[in-house]
Amino acid sequence: SGEDKRPTETSMSSANPVDAKTAAIPAIRWAEPPEGPVPVLLDQTRLPGEETELVCTDAPALVQAIRTLAVRGAPLLGIAGAYGVALAAVRGFDVDEAAGALAGARPTAVNLGYGVRRALTAYRSAVAGGADQERAGAAALAAARALHREDAEASARMAVHGLALLDEMLPGGGHRILTHCNTGALVSGGEGTAFAVALAAHRKGHLRRLWVDETRPLLQGSRLTAYEAARAGMAYTLLTDNAAGSLFAAGEVDAVLIGADRIAADGSVANKVGSYPLAVLARYHHVPFIVVAPVTTVDPDTPDGASIEVEQRASHEVTEVTAPYVPMAGLETGGGIAVAPLGTQAYNPAFDVTPPDLVTAIVTEEGVVSPVTAGGLGELCARSRQV
Ligand code: MRU
Repeated sequence: SGEDKRPTETSMSSANPVDAKTAAIPAIRWAEPPEGPVPVLLDQTRLPGEETELVCTDAPALVQAIRTLAVRGAPLLGIAGAYGVALAAVRGFDVDEAAGALAGARPTAVNLGYGVRRALTAYRSAVAGGADQERAGAAALAAARALHREDAEASARMAVHGLALLDEMLPGGGHRILTHCNTGALVSGGEGTAFAVALAAHRKGHLRRLWVDETRPLLQGSRLTAYEAARAGMAYTLLTDNAAGSLFAAGEVDAVLIGADRIAADGSVANKVGSYPLAVLARYHHVPFIVVAPVTTVDPDTPDGASIEVEQRASHEVTEVTAPYVPMAGLETGGGIAVAPLGTQAYNPAFDVTPPDLVTAIVTEEGVVSPVTAGGLGELCARSRQV
């Protein structure tokens, strides 16, 4: 694979993106020649100020984009991983090396490994069947495209199941939903997971307010979810993560809706750090805590929450702020404005784990699991697991 690990950047638009009239750039697309063959990403590190595309011409560039969160969110990481394998295959790079690097780029979201495996399996079976490089590359690409399409379909079905559940739990509409991190079209081939449910409620006139946690330290809530909510014309309000407690205490939250990066076989849910405290608050205040995720996020090979590897990220993400946040400056030094004494070490886990007994329901494209038990999840996986 190539030497230049930094993806090429193309500025598409610097007009105010918080405007429904601005053309949407898909979170990921596959470009054919003459532009490609390459995966092209919407650089999420630049939002909401700038809609800029990243062209990844080799797997190391895509690995870098994954590590810096230019492309992020569990389902989208799966799609990106699959396109990354296809990229190596169609361009004649070492496919096994690319697959290993992509799968290891971030540890927590199980979808990343799933997507990589799916394209790699297609590639290997083509090779084993006597396919030449071109046909084997086409097989890997077809697998990536299929995953992309299926994720869009799963998204739509999660929205239907999730809204039905909300309307059943909270009759009469007027839902005030609190969400954390970013779970919309920016993480998906479709409209996302938890955000897709809120969007469906909005379209039906059943959403009174979307409460958006800013999601320190990388601000996926304020930079990305608020951006998506504004574009969709939803009634939303941004809050700092530590304001959630008083919001619950004021009786302003009817349900919490979040996504997941990995769901263990026992129903433990790894999601963006700050999700677990919301689950504790929700339990105390008798508010449903609902997780929305595709079946590919359920990992039967991870028995419980303690077995989930939680990504630990660099101190500078906490000890410095940048405006806008531009992590492409490097993984070790952020190049931002220090908000802590020089040399301060930060505890910066990217995710936390919520135990199953705090989760009211898990909504998937195959239906709802509630109560959340190993048996219920196992049945779901047995019905739908493909790889
Ligand atoms: O570190 P990120 O931004 O990749 O974390 C993303 C999340 O935690 C999302 O909530 C999760 O992937 C679910 S999105 C469907």
